[in-house]
Amino acid sequence: MEPIGIFYGSTYGMTEKSAENIKKAFGRTKVDVYNLATATIEDMKKYRNLIFGTSAWGIGEMQDDWEKFIDHLSEMDFSERKLALFGLGDQKEYPESFVDGLGTLYCRLPDKSSVVGAWPIEGYDFYFSLANKEGEFVGLVLDDHHQKELSAGRIKRWVTQLKKEFI
Ligand SMILES: Cc1cc2nc3c(=O)[nH]c(=O)nc-3n(C[C@H](O)[C@H](O)[C@H](O)COP(=O)(O)O)c2cc1C
Repeated sequence: MEPIGIFYGSTYGMTEKSAENIKKAFGRTKVDVYNLATATIEDMKKYRNLIFGTSAWGIGEMQDDWEKFIDHLSEMDFSERKLALFGLGDQKEYPESFVDGLGTLYCRLPDKSSVVGAWPIEGYDFYFSLANKEGEFVGLVLDDHHQKELSAGRIKRWVTQLKKEFI
C-alpha cells in the first residue's frame, strides 16, 4: 500500500492519541502523523492516502486548527487520492451534536468523491449528529470519554477496512 498521511486537529491531545493508535494499527505500512497546528498543504500533497481527524467543539464546530486550515483544501486535487475521516466526541455530554466536528469537516470538503471509510452508527447512544449521513457515519467515530474500552477494536476494524479501500 502507498504511504499514508494522517492530519489531526486536537485541543487536549485525545485526537492526537487516536491518530497515533491508528498509525500503530497499520503495522508495517508507512504512516506519517501531522498536527494541523504546524502542518502545511505541501505536507498533505505528498500523500495519495490521507486520513483527517478532528474533535468536536460546540454545535457544528471542528477543532480550531481545522477551522484555520480548511480553506487550503481547495488547493488539493482529490481525484487521484483516497481520503478517510475520523472524529472524537462525547455522546453523554453532547448527544445532540455528537461528533459534529467530523460532520462539518465532511461537509466542508471541496471534493467528497474520494472519501472512504464510512462507519456504522450502531453501538453509540445519541440523538443527533451532523456526521450521520443516511444512516452511516462519514468516518470512524471514537468516544474516549465513555467508550474508551471499545476504541482499540474499532480502530483495528476500521484500519482493516481502509487497507482494502486505500490505494
Ligand atoms: C466546550 C466543549 C464543547 C464540546 N462540544 C462537543 C460537541 O458538540 N459534540 C461532541 O461530540 N463532543 C464535544 N466535546 C467533547 C470533545 O470533542 C472531546 O472531549 C474530544 O475527545 C476532545 O479531543 P481533543 O483533545 O483531541 O480536542 C466538547 C468538549 C468541550 C470541552
